[in-house]
Amino acid sequence: MKTFIALLFVIFSIIGIADASFITYEKFAGIIPDCGPGFDCGAVLNSKWSSIGPVPLSLLGLFYYITVFALGILLVLEIEIKKPMNRFFDKIRLSQKNILRTINTAEALFLVTTFGFGFSIYLVVLMAFVIEAWCKYCVISAASSTLLFITSNIYFSKIEKRSPFIPKLLTFNFLHWGYTTIIKRLFFLMDAEDAHNSCTHFGTVLGKFSLTQWVTKVLFSFTNQSSAKKLNGILFPNPVGLAAGFDYNGQLTSILPDLGMGFHTIGTVTYRPYEGNKKPRLGRFLESKSLLVNKGLKSLGAVIIAKNLTGIKFRIPTGISIASTNTSFRNEAEQILDILKTFTIFENSKVQHSYYELNISCPNTFGGEPFTTPQRLKILLSAIEKLQIKKPIFVKMPIDQSKKETLELLTVIYKFTIAGVIFGNLTKDKNNPDVTETDRKKWLTVKGNLSGKPTWKRSNDLIELTRRNFGKRFTIIGTGGIFSGSDAQIKIDCGADLIQLITGMIFEGPQVVGEINLRLAQESQKK
Ligand SMILES: Cc1cc2nc3c(=O)[nH]c(=O)nc-3n(C[C@H](O)[C@H](O)[C@H](O)COP(=O)(O)O)c2cc1C
Repeated sequence: MKTFIALLFVIFSIIGIADASFITYEKFAGIIPDCGPGFDCGAVLNSKWSSIGPVPLSLLGLFYYITVFALGILLVLEIEIKKPMNRFFDKIRLSQKNILRTINTAEALFLVTTFGFGFSIYLVVLMAFVIEAWCKYCVISAASSTLLFITSNIYFSKIEKRSPFIPKLLTFNFLHWGYTTIIKRLFFLMDAEDAHNSCTHFGTVLGKFSLTQWVTKVLFSFTNQSSAKKLNGILFPNPVGLAAGFDYNGQLTSILPDLGMGFHTIGTVTYRPYEGNKKPRLGRFLESKSLLVNKGLKSLGAVIIAKNLTGIKFRIPTGISIASTNTSFRNEAEQILDILKTFTIFENSKVQHSYYELNISCPNTFGGEPFTTPQRLKILLSAIEKLQIKKPIFVKMPIDQSKKETLELLTVIYKFTIAGVIFGNLTKDKNNPDVTETDRKKWLTVKGNLSGKPTWKRSNDLIELTRRNFGKRFTIIGTGGIFSGSDAQIKIDCGADLIQLITGMIFEGPQVVGEINLRLAQESQKK
């Protein structure tokens, strides 16, 4: 199968070579080939578009097909001769390294055929709309380059079962540049909450149509079969997820898989609807690479959200984050009942979610964080345990507690059927050393707590602490300040099984999800 697909490069490029040689010969000989009815080769081949300066496009096409042919032969040799002629193969790899640096033959083919396909689209558009005539031989060439492009895509999806590293990296670099130099600047001129709402709206629209989903996938997603992980009975296609707080109402379920996300948390959802704290409730601390959050668990309420999500077939594992409604309660029992009601609504619903997050650590709520003492957490978890929930529950942990306090909470959680912990939520520590002095001064004058880089170190320390003290007992989801592939790798090295993010995506662009997956795949290949 592998050799067969590699041979297709050779076969389609031979068709291209024959076609391009013929047109080039005719062009230099000054002959206009007879194209047959419906075609007008003269109009196309004599047009000003048919050459770049003195060089006919057909000659460039010929070079293109010869390159693909040579790379195709090299790929077939690499596949076939690898074992019996190891030294020969090494030599090929060596020369390949010298010429194309770190790129391998399949990736070189992917790059070249993508370029060829893009150029063919340009020529077809020219014939259709500018010259308004068709040349039979140019159509054959466009068909060959389309087949070559399809072949290189099939080679990666079916044989290598991953996206090609170098071409994807180039695409991500380009998208990163476009995002940080244009889109982010425009977004950051807008009010932070309006920008967030626009992103959600735009994502919802992209998720509505197969074409926009496909384009998003081609541009942003990096797939690698070996990145899949089965944890607590859930198969995560990759370890990178969207953290709670971006998609409050589950509007992005159709587009996040195409963005390359491996899982997705909706919410935090509360039993009763809450319109959120007073605006402005979202800000940016650019120097500290952080967002100031004071949303206060804005939610449409569990009943409406469960109704909206019913019938949706999630393409990636999707979780529901649950906390108590942001209001005052007469007593602890009433507050626990409020949380239990949300669990019960989702348990009795037909929503096809895979897991729950129990958010005990939202710092922007009416009563603070009532369940972050061991005694109260124990009472809450005992009540939840009685619901006999089968789906895994992950507890979203605070990050500002001391290591001793965190270990005490973990010791409580350990005794219940809780699948894992998430480190962690926002920081409310005004002495956090990762907040710059300018931002700290601003912070002292406004309400809210911080995401992003100020949460990075603290969450890493607590992930390490948990792994060291509890071994494999908990699945650990690392959240906080992940802005790049190397940040994600550090979280995993600290002990995280999965990672989640929000702020990194806003500061670096949505392609960061693919970049992280690419980096993790490269790391796992090294091992
Ligand atoms: C705008 C915003 C809203 C958030 N809302 C929630 C929430 O409702 N529930 C929750 O558990 N965490 C919430 N968080 C915290 C994030 O899930 C995450 O734990 C934190 O931001 C650290 O990750 P990051 O640095 O990648 O953003 C929110 C974060 C942001 C930035």
